[in-house]
Amino acid sequence: KATLQERAANKGIIYGAAAQYKPLTTNKRFAQHFAQECAVLVPANELKWKTLRPTPEKFNFSRSDWMAEFAQKHNMLFRGHTLVWYQALPKWFEDKVNRKNAEKFLTEHINTVVQRYAGKIYSWDVVNEAILPNSSKQGLRQTPWLRLLGADYIEMAFRTAAAADPQALLIYNDNNLEYDNAKTETKRDRVLKLLERLKSKGVPIHGLGIQSHLGASSRGFNAKRLRNFLKDVASLDLQILITEMDVSETKLLVADDRDTIIAGVYHDYLSLALDEPAVNTVITWGLSDRYTWLSHFAPRQDGVPVRPLPLDAELERKLAWNAIASAF
Ligand code: XIL
Repeated sequence: KATLQERAANKGIIYGAAAQYKPLTTNKRFAQHFAQECAVLVPANELKWKTLRPTPEKFNFSRSDWMAEFAQKHNMLFRGHTLVWYQALPKWFEDKVNRKNAEKFLTEHINTVVQRYAGKIYSWDVVNEAILPNSSKQGLRQTPWLRLLGADYIEMAFRTAAAADPQALLIYNDNNLEYDNAKTETKRDRVLKLLERLKSKGVPIHGLGIQSHLGASSRGFNAKRLRNFLKDVASLDLQILITEMDVSETKLLVADDRDTIIAGVYHDYLSLALDEPAVNTVITWGLSDRYTWLSHFAPRQDGVPVRPLPLDAELERKLAWNAIASAF
């Protein structure tokens, strides 16, 4: 059987996954499987402020550099996540960053990090999770960046990143855009408005990343609305990337044949999303159940290990793998 990246490539799609430094450096078999299945490596945490910025003055690139080299060595693309986010900020941030110096901190951070990986990182999540409907007038989430810099921090980040690496694909990434319900609809509207606003101002932005952290309990998409949203995004001349897909199962019973249900979610969602030609990338948030963030973030109540990803904890291909492969 061909690998996921080969299956995807046959259809002009890029498949990859996120991973952390530790399993890649300590588990050889995992690293081998990763390089086989994936055409893209995304550091799950290693390019976040918290990892890169131990002190206000210093950058620590040791882990991200190693991962960039690993990607290069195995002919994988390397994807950056993320330059601007309200989470994963270092402890010193609150004390040191204020209205006077925030612009300097933001632009210096972006310049330093993006320039370092120019030519090595093909695509950046420039801004992550900036929209939260009802939290402010434009639906912008209340974040340190919004408080310190106002709504323009978003375009500032994109312009700075584009100047630091004119080749990189610059992406706006967000969550909770997948399911058709009233809350999602307002969020989709807000995101579309943001994208329209950025495009009309000539801000260098090339795509939307839809995180796609899905749940096994809520199967079935209203195909029409999701399709329309994807079409609206595409009509702004933007690419669409599925950037962090996994399927959580907090409410499933073990007896529910959860692998079948989880595979069904992969199948339903991906076949619908990939119907839209602008969707050109599928990235899962991890490759093996052994290292999924969901075992901490969304564990099962009965303590049974979760199975949200294409490979199981022993690195065997699961029904989810088949579902992804056949969606390509
Ligand atoms: C997660 C990582 O996977 C975890 O290891 C970390 O503890 C928290 O962050 N949306 C995002 C990612 O954009 O950065 C998050 O990654 C998962 C949710």
